[in-house]
Amino acid sequence: MSGRKVKVAVTRKLPEPVEARLRDLFDVVFHESDAPLSPAALIERARDADVLAPTLGDRLDEAFFEQVGDRMKLVANFGAGVDHIDVAAANAHGVTVTNTPSVLAEDAADMAMALILAVPRRLVEGVRALEAGEFQGWSPTWMLGRRVRGKKLGIIGLGRVGEAIARRAKAFGLSIHYHNRSRINPHIEDELDATYWDSLDQMLARVDIVSVNCPHTPATFHLLSRRRLELLQPQAYVVNISRGEIVDEEALASMIEEGRLAGAGLDVYERGAPSEKLLKAPNVVLLPHMASATVESRVEMGERMIINIKMFSDGHKPPDRVILGLDDGRLPKAG
Ligand code: DGY
Repeated sequence: MSGRKVKVAVTRKLPEPVEARLRDLFDVVFHESDAPLSPAALIERARDADVLAPTLGDRLDEAFFEQVGDRMKLVANFGAGVDHIDVAAANAHGVTVTNTPSVLAEDAADMAMALILAVPRRLVEGVRALEAGEFQGWSPTWMLGRRVRGKKLGIIGLGRVGEAIARRAKAFGLSIHYHNRSRINPHIEDELDATYWDSLDQMLARVDIVSVNCPHTPATFHLLSRRRLELLQPQAYVVNISRGEIVDEEALASMIEEGRLAGAGLDVYERGAPSEKLLKAPNVVLLPHMASATVESRVEMGERMIINIKMFSDGHKPPDRVILGLDDGRLPKAG
């Protein structure tokens, strides 16, 4: 790609400093509006570029890679999750895929911790009651939630985000439990005083709050199935800032409605937005997929994406290649 500027096609409006840096380095086709491109427009845009910079919401499936032609050799995703990209199909067509891990972990963990506190302590319900004029002064029995300190937090997928959540949760007096395909570094396990559960089912039956932090893959679709949700104790809460598809949302909403689970704090949904049933369920705090939504995270995600593009276009291996088959220790065991 020497001799001319690398052509990068961007699919969404990105933070201003990211767009400015892209403009300095590459020949860029920007996307002025914040609406995702249609599948046809996505193909058209990618066909004329060396690099596509997509993000969540752009579906890059096998058909996309079959139709996109030979020019585009890198998909530099703006975001950590790549479940919207068929990485196997990309690789089969000679396309490298990169993502932006790490940079958003601390901000995402803050939001998970906020949900871990907000649901048992009825934070949003309290705000709503006050705004609705229902506050009649302090009462010994009104608006009672559940104590967070002393509870057991079960993290499914203790990777970068899971570890950042565990550190926060430990400071709030929760004990840390986790389920991964493999154990984390023993020093970190000691530091967190974390208990490893080889069996997800057994961990679920014993914890008070579950935090979902594994990636969404075919193997983790509905990992928290109805059967597994039924293993939880009725006083348990579910927190999910990873991907909606990992939890059977219909079963979760029904069980909360029926009082078979205490509540949920969710930032992500199976179909992008929460179902009517979930919106109507009691004891839920529902956020619009905003766990990484800080100026700092989004700019750093852009910087990371740019490093990947620059390394690739200079003929090097970009640092954040998504490598299929690489054993991701935080993935749960099958079954
Ligand atoms: C990601 O990067 O995949 C996040 O879900 C965006 O917040």
